Amino acid sequence: MKTTINDVLTVQIPTVSDTRGKLAVIEKDCAPFGIQRVYYLYDVPSDSYRGGHAHKKLYQMLIALSGSFEVHLKDGENERKITLNKPDKGLLIVPGIWREIDNFSSGSVCLVLASEAYDEGDYIRDFEDFKLFKRT
Ligand code: TYD
Repeated sequence: MKTTINDVLTVQIPTVSDTRGKLAVIEKDCAPFGIQRVYYLYDVPSDSYRGGHAHKKLYQMLIALSGSFEVHLKDGENERKITLNKPDKGLLIVPGIWREIDNFSSGSVCLVLASEAYDEGDYIRDFEDFKLFKRT
């Protein structure tokens, strides 16, 4: 699969702001895949390590609803680190990208919008398998 870390995009989520606070809206222009599933990570210990896998078909958007964490991306050739720390920034991860998430701040919440229902068969959890997958 040919996707690279440059295909991973940081997306500005439109917000409506007034004296009462901010409201962020995600519609299909912002998350350009049909959202089939929403999940979130919370109560994450700061030394926790999440991810450590890639997906064959799944598109995801990660949002730091609260606090911050780091997302480390690999495509088999290059690496990139992105810190998510704003609830109006989404990270659009395309299929075929290895991700690891760490450095969670206290109380952080990671919201994930996903293009498919949960399917363990879509995961690549071994980095050597991932490198083979990227060569096909
Ligand atoms: P995993 O995707 O590996 O979590 P992370 O990438 O955050 O480290 O999933 C952790 C566990 O949760 C694993 O046993 C599968 C399960 N799980 C579900 O049952 N449904 C889901 O939608 C997700 C994302 C995970």
